[in-house]
Amino acid sequence: MLASLKPKVTTILSNNAESVENRLAALCNLLRDTIDYYDWVGFYFKNGDKKELKLGPYAGEPTDHTIIPFGKGICGQVAVSNENFVVPDVAAQDNYIACSITVKAEIVVPLFKNGENIGQIDIDSNTPDPFTEEDERFLEFVNQEVSQIL
Ligand code: SME
Repeated sequence: MLASLKPKVTTILSNNAESVENRLAALCNLLRDTIDYYDWVGFYFKNGDKKELKLGPYAGEPTDHTIIPFGKGICGQVAVSNENFVVPDVAAQDNYIACSITVKAEIVVPLFKNGENIGQIDIDSNTPDPFTEEDERFLEFVNQEVSQIL
């Protein structure tokens, strides 16, 4: 049950002794280590005034895609749509940026601060079609908690 992770998420994020960067990295590690179908977990944030996303803390393999223009890939589309994007099969997407050939599915959930879409959490899975509404609700919770420390 993803919901059972909520107290751990809150504990990590409320640790004021650590920088925001370190707390977000610890959160990414928690999710990747605990949820077997989460193989890459990371945050992208709006890069200043530019219409692009910049990679923030993450857990998993390094990616070349540290900057993603708005509208490009799943992440760039969410920056514009303000809506969750669940991709059961990445091979079926035209506007998709591949980070690793092992990835089969992806979920991106926007992160709002004072009603503004300022970034997103991005999960890649090596398992086909693993994400359900439970993931969406859980990741919305995670982003709400993150928003409070930004
Ligand atoms: N697949 C994403 C790019 C980011 S990587 O998954 C880390 C996309 O299509 O936007």
